Amino acid sequence: MDRRDFIKLSGISILASSTNILAMEILEKEEKPKSGGRKMKVMKLQPKDYLKPKGLVGISDGQIEVHFEAHYKGYVAKYNEIQEKLASDFADRSKANQNYSEYRALKVEESFNYMGVILHELYFENLIGGGKGEPSEQLRKAIEEWFGSVDNCLNEIKATGIACRGWATLSYDLYNKMLFVNGFDAHNQYGFVGSIPLIVLDVYEHAYYVDQKNKRPPYIDAFFKNLNWDMINQRFENALKAKV
Ligand SMILES: [Fe+2]
Repeated sequence: MDRRDFIKLSGISILASSTNILAMEILEKEEKPKSGGRKMKVMKLQPKDYLKPKGLVGISDGQIEVHFEAHYKGYVAKYNEIQEKLASDFADRSKANQNYSEYRALKVEESFNYMGVILHELYFENLIGGGKGEPSEQLRKAIEEWFGSVDNCLNEIKATGIACRGWATLSYDLYNKMLFVNGFDAHNQYGFVGSIPLIVLDVYEHAYYVDQKNKRPPYIDAFFKNLNWDMINQRFENALKAKV
């Protein structure tokens, strides 16, 4: 029997996030897998083509095209594939093992691909050709409080982006109400629980190799020239309203 025969479409769920809309297709299994898996809903992500930036300064459309179509959409596809497998008999929960098990592999890569999707959407969303706006008075004051100046903050992001292998972000920590810069070696490695990203910089080689070969610093400089401060300001406003 085709697995789709026992899966029914139960509805479309729309979640309003800080600045964009996450459209999720919810599929609900009618039965628990025989191996002991749980009855669960399956979230299928949709790629957001409207987030693809064009006409950036110092980052070519060709660079963005391969980044968006191959890498970003690749994470969407693999996340969806993993959700299908988690809802099926593919991974026997009774054989879960921390050294190796199919279930462990799914949970590890679920984290990698989901965070890959979210971080890429935030990255593309905070870029616009030639940049837009400037830090709001509220954000500027907060940046000056924690970094001394906006330039110092951007320099901290740049150094972190050179020191790390995947990402650098300026984030707002909900627990201690502070701004901080942190880096990731992979989408799901070294993130801070309870923080909301405001500026998201992708430093994987795939983000700049078409334009810059192996030269990361000029790519980061170009990234700063295309920052959409209106979007970043909105993220900060929303972060200030969030509670933990
Ligand atoms: Fe990327």
